[in-house]
This record gives sequence, C-alpha cells and structure tokens, in this order.
Amino acid sequence: MKFIVQPGYQCRTLLGRIRVPGDKSISHRSIMFGAIAEGVSHISGFLDGEDSLNTLRAFRAMGVKIDGPDDGRVSIHGVGMHGLQSPAAPLNVGNSGTSMRLLAGLLAGQAFDLELRGDASLSKRPMQRVTDPLTLMGAKVKTAEGGRPPLKITGRQQLKPVQYTLPMASAQVKSCCLLAGLYAEGTSCVTEPATTRDHTERMLKAFGWPVTINRHKQGLTVCVTGQAILKATDIDVPADISSAAFFMVGATISTGSEIVLEHVGINPTRTGIIEILKLMGADLTLLNEREVGGEPVADICVRSARLQGIHIPETLVPLAIDEFPVLFVAAACAEGETRITGAEELRVKECDRIQVMADGLQALGVDAVATHDGMIIQGAADMVAFHGGVVGSHDDHRIAMAFTMAALRSDGAIHIEDCDNVNTSFPGFARLAEIAGMTIQVCDE
Ligand code: S3P
Repeated sequence: MKFIVQPGYQCRTLLGRIRVPGDKSISHRSIMFGAIAEGVSHISGFLDGEDSLNTLRAFRAMGVKIDGPDDGRVSIHGVGMHGLQSPAAPLNVGNSGTSMRLLAGLLAGQAFDLELRGDASLSKRPMQRVTDPLTLMGAKVKTAEGGRPPLKITGRQQLKPVQYTLPMASAQVKSCCLLAGLYAEGTSCVTEPATTRDHTERMLKAFGWPVTINRHKQGLTVCVTGQAILKATDIDVPADISSAAFFMVGATISTGSEIVLEHVGINPTRTGIIEILKLMGADLTLLNEREVGGEPVADICVRSARLQGIHIPETLVPLAIDEFPVLFVAAACAEGETRITGAEELRVKECDRIQVMADGLQALGVDAVATHDGMIIQGAADMVAFHGGVVGSHDDHRIAMAFTMAALRSDGAIHIEDCDNVNTSFPGFARLAEIAGMTIQVCDE
C-alpha cells in the first residue's frame, strides 16, 4: 500500500473533533492481564490494530476464550495464573515488539515449552534485553544469533525473584521483568534509569495485585511479589496519545487549523509530546480532564501556531519515544535549529527511526543531519517546509504517518511507500486524516 498525499502549504487546515483509536500499550496489557485473571474482564475502546490483535490471537492459541473485538469491545474469559495451555504451533506476533517482549516475561514461568516469532522487521530487533533478566530469574530462553527472535522458551522452570537495574529506559523490558515476577517466589524489583510508561503497574493494581514504587536518586524502583492472583476487571482504553500526536503536529503546522482530539490518554509517562510541542510554541489546551480505570484522560484542543527550534530536554525523550518521527516533522517546520540528543533507542524501533527519518526529510529538501543519538534539523522560516517527493517508510507505521503530516507544509505531493503497517497501530488513519481535511490517495504498490 502506498499513500499519495496532496500538498497543503497554501490551503489545508485541519478542523473538527476526532477520536483516534485505542491506546496500543493499554490494549496489549488488557488482553494479557485479562487472560491470566480469574473471571471475565470486559474491555472497551480496544485497539483493533494488527499489533494488539496479535496479542489477542496468541492468547486464543493458548486456550483463552476471547469474544470480539466488536466495535472496540472485547470480553476475556480469564483462565487464572496457571490456566494457559500449550499452543499447537509457534506464536507469531507479527510486527509487535511489545507482544514479544511482554509475552517472554509472562510465558517464561509456564508449564509448557513454546516459541515466539515475528515478521521480518521484528526478527531484526534486539531481544537480549529481555533474555538477560529472564535468565537471571532462572528462565530458559534461547534467541537466534545476535540475540534476535525467534525466542524459544523451555517451560517448567521455577522462577526466582530478581533485583534488576535496566541498562536502558524501556517499559517493555520493565514490564517483562514484572510479568515474570508474578510467577516467581518472592519479591522482584526493577530500577529504571529514567521514567518510562507505567501502564503495567497501573493495570496490575486495577486487577487487584499490589505494586510498590520507590523514587530515589538512581531513578525509580518498581517491585512486585510473586505467586500472584489477579481478579478480572473492566478496562476503558483511552485513545492513543501516540496516534493523536500526528494530528497534534498536523494541526499545529497548518495555518488556520483547530482540532479537538477526544478522550486521549494523558498518563504523565506519555505526555512528552505535549510538553515538547509546548516548549516549541504550540497551542495545546487540555479540556475536560478526567480519570478512567486508573488512567487520566482529556480532550485536547490544538490550534495552529508558529514553532521555534529548541534543544529537546533529554528527560522528555522516554516520555515521547514513539512520537519522534512526527516531532522531526514539527522540527522541520520550526524556525531555527532543533537538536535531539539522548534518543539512541530510536535506532532499534520498527526501523532505524533516526536514519530513515533523516533520509526521508533530506529527500523532501530539509536540512536534517542524523547523529548517533538523535538529529539536528534546520527548520523552515516560511510556509514551504518540504518539497514534494518520494519517501520510504521501511514498513514502519509511524514513519508513514509522520510523512503524511509533512504534506500539510509541502509544495508538491508526497508519495509514501510501504504503508501497510499503518494498520498495526492506527487502522483507518487515512480516512480520519481525510475527515480532518487532508487529501490522501491510498493505492496498491
Ligand atoms: C511500549 C514501550 C516502548 C514503546 C512501544 C510500546 C510498551 O518501547 O516504544 O511502542 O507498550 O511498553 P521500549 O520499551 O522499547 O521503549
């Protein structure tokens, strides 16, 4: 699938009220916890995208009855901590790093062997970051060469608790350790070097199992005690701030825009995008702030604004880690220089997001230089920030959607290749962008 996005520097505005699909991180976790809980959990707002569906299919393959998704509603008939059954075939989680890394933790303490596989992109991503702590816990997990998938887990291991300091700020690795910790005898603690998303901790509490959190000089330590019993609960999944981010940037960079993004999750471990855009001069207002199922939510009103280049504070990087592709686009529309540092994790996402974005920005005429841990971008002082051209998204959903927004400030059409994976996190993206005011042709390649 290819997107051809019509240029908008003279006339396009984004207007109206839209609700983007459900939060991907919360959708994955709702299936995982619902499956190992006792009783039936009802989920609403579930992300009907390929990544979270891969988690759902994995649990069905392990004998969990799951109804839906039906318009975002899913019912999970939990089988309890020890009720999962050996799947008949390897579990293929497609493009989803979250599925593979969290499932590695949750499945390391089961009574059966299994294999976790992924697509070509996931098969290149590092997994030693989860197999290292799991091995310390007494799990038996083998990777392919270079610590890559597939993961082969030998079951029937009694897991030991672990005291683990994460070598990188990663919510997936933290969550992997906590999920394995649910099956260990004793208390496992994970210390993170910088705050990362805390949906696992919040959801464990919602399923009735305590988590303790200590802030100290070295960072933040999260502890969980094993031999857990989770009780089914109902979860209302908010709209994904990572998907809303495309429209936050789109409305900001296109003159005359005003858009309201409804029911967006504003968990403080995810709001780096809002803080960074505000530092750059964006006009974002949170309306109707409320809490649903342990997660804060708001409607976000975004009006167009002139952006200024900044040096993005490194403390905000993990809080906006998935939003950098579209932040690079915002930076290209900001007057002066924007510097991004401390973001080397971007190189091991669905693709090398530093290199691929720098290449694409350059192809559209932007002065962007990739560095080992970020990028330096000279933004445009006038309305034409991009020229038309062809960019590759390298099968990465967020690259495809970021370059779609670039067309709002380009003087020619932008052709974006390999867009199928937009469906992993944002089914219906092109349609929603059209409703908001863009013109996108979706064609077979
Ligand atoms: C996620 C954590 C982040 C993020 C990913 C989802 C999660 O990954 O990039 O899209 O749901 O825990 P890392 O843990 O690798 O930073």
